[in-house]
Amino acid sequence: MKNLWWQTGIIYQIYPRSYQDSNGDGIGDLQGIIQRLDYLKWLGINIIWISPIYPSPMADFGYDISDYTGIHPLFGTMEDFDKLLQQIHQRGMKLVLDLVPNHTSDQHPWFIESRSSKDNPKRDWYIWKDAKPDGSPPNNWLSVFGGSGWEWDEKTGQYYYHGFLKEQPDLNWRNPKVQQAMLDVMRFWLDKGVDGFRVDVMWHMIKDDQFRDNPPNPDYQQHMSTYDQLLPVYSTDQPEVHDIVKKMRRLLDEYNERMMIGEIYLPIHKLVTYYGIETKEAHMPFNFMLLSTPWQAATIAAAVDEYEGLLPKDGWPNWVLGNHDQPRITSRVGIQQARVAAMLLLTLRGTPTIYYGDEIGALDVPIPFDEVQDPQGLNMPDKNLSRDPARTPMQWSGEPNGGFSTSKPWLRLHRAWERQNVTLQKEDPYSMLHLHRRLIQLRQKEPALMHGNYAPVFSDHQVLAFRRYAEGDKSFLIVLNLSHRPCYFKTDNIKISGTIVVATLPELEGTAVEDSINLGGDEGVIVELAYK
Ligand code: GLC
Repeated sequence: MKNLWWQTGIIYQIYPRSYQDSNGDGIGDLQGIIQRLDYLKWLGINIIWISPIYPSPMADFGYDISDYTGIHPLFGTMEDFDKLLQQIHQRGMKLVLDLVPNHTSDQHPWFIESRSSKDNPKRDWYIWKDAKPDGSPPNNWLSVFGGSGWEWDEKTGQYYYHGFLKEQPDLNWRNPKVQQAMLDVMRFWLDKGVDGFRVDVMWHMIKDDQFRDNPPNPDYQQHMSTYDQLLPVYSTDQPEVHDIVKKMRRLLDEYNERMMIGEIYLPIHKLVTYYGIETKEAHMPFNFMLLSTPWQAATIAAAVDEYEGLLPKDGWPNWVLGNHDQPRITSRVGIQQARVAAMLLLTLRGTPTIYYGDEIGALDVPIPFDEVQDPQGLNMPDKNLSRDPARTPMQWSGEPNGGFSTSKPWLRLHRAWERQNVTLQKEDPYSMLHLHRRLIQLRQKEPALMHGNYAPVFSDHQVLAFRRYAEGDKSFLIVLNLSHRPCYFKTDNIKISGTIVVATLPELEGTAVEDSINLGGDEGVIVELAYK
């Protein structure tokens, strides 16, 4: 089977507001991304996913779209976009856009029409329901961002449903006209030459047709988001969603080698159903296991095996360590262990996604309360759920504002940007950036790592070890110490004999190993085995 670009490549997520500002307004833009393409090429990235760049009132920073086929003036113009796409392709890279089909902005012309009267032809494009006799919402469904999922519309005397902000009304995907309109949006970008989509909240797209109440979550705890008080069994992950995803896939298949990722937070046995029967749905339902699995060797080993075991035949795996909705990996596991995490991400079987800044070990940035911008943080102020800390400007250099902008950035930078930035790390062969580059280069040159097999080798309370190999090609043993204490790795499960080719501690590279491996705390090595 031919290996396709999205199977052999490495995805890099850009949060456009925070990557590079080119016009001095403190907000990143498309021209800024163009300026940094050579950096990404140097790093070895070949697939770029950009969070939404469309016109939007920015109630949810672009995930509330008011025009699906335009570019927000903050980010630039359609000419800038065309140039970006052309420059990406010229470098042999691919571009994946964010598609947000579950909801629009309340300022989208479709919703403005829909809410104008009960008999407007677009009324049924959204989810409108009468109040209960006592005036309360039609059911108990909650908004992910806090409070009820239903908003009362005074003018037309009905509630509309919004799984996220009230400024993000959910589309009614049971309406064929909605389906057609969104497929047309996809076609617009595919015709331009965009290589794929990351589909936002794919599992939210269709809701129970009887609108039954969600049950209480027996495991709810006070610190959790208010949304977690109920189990969203009727408001998400409905069987009919698969028909929609299939339609999207059929459209993509009309084009040459285009790809669709689904953003889906579900337990793994449910997640894998989004590959579809005969893998005719999402090419890659995002695998978020590493975001929530406790960082312990045996637990992670079990999670990897569970995923490998559940993947459908021909279902291509993928791995994610961070994104714009989650705490950064470096803050979660610590700076030293983040090097081990990078080695794990870039040696597992399946397409890795790197979140911008993780390649320099960027940390979550503490944002003072009066500077919080994220609606999730503002709506549930006592729960510390703001996503701003992981969305701060890229730390490029020691220049003012970290080289991100000539004026005050929309979110503050990390306090240590003067000594933690791309420019300094480029000069330091021991840096996180160089570790990423060596890992990426090795993965991209070795078929065994790029698309070879995976076999578990060993795990205990400290060490996670696995093997990657391709028939008739090389074989690699990856040994990761997920603890802070040194360890001595010896096993009867595999013959240890070979050379360390990449190590979190670069001094180890080139060393021969025989029978056992001695690792410091927070260390990992990739051993090229002396046999196949
Ligand atoms: C997705 C996005 C998140 C956004 C939400 C609503 O989860 O990743 O940033 O707030 O959808 O669109």
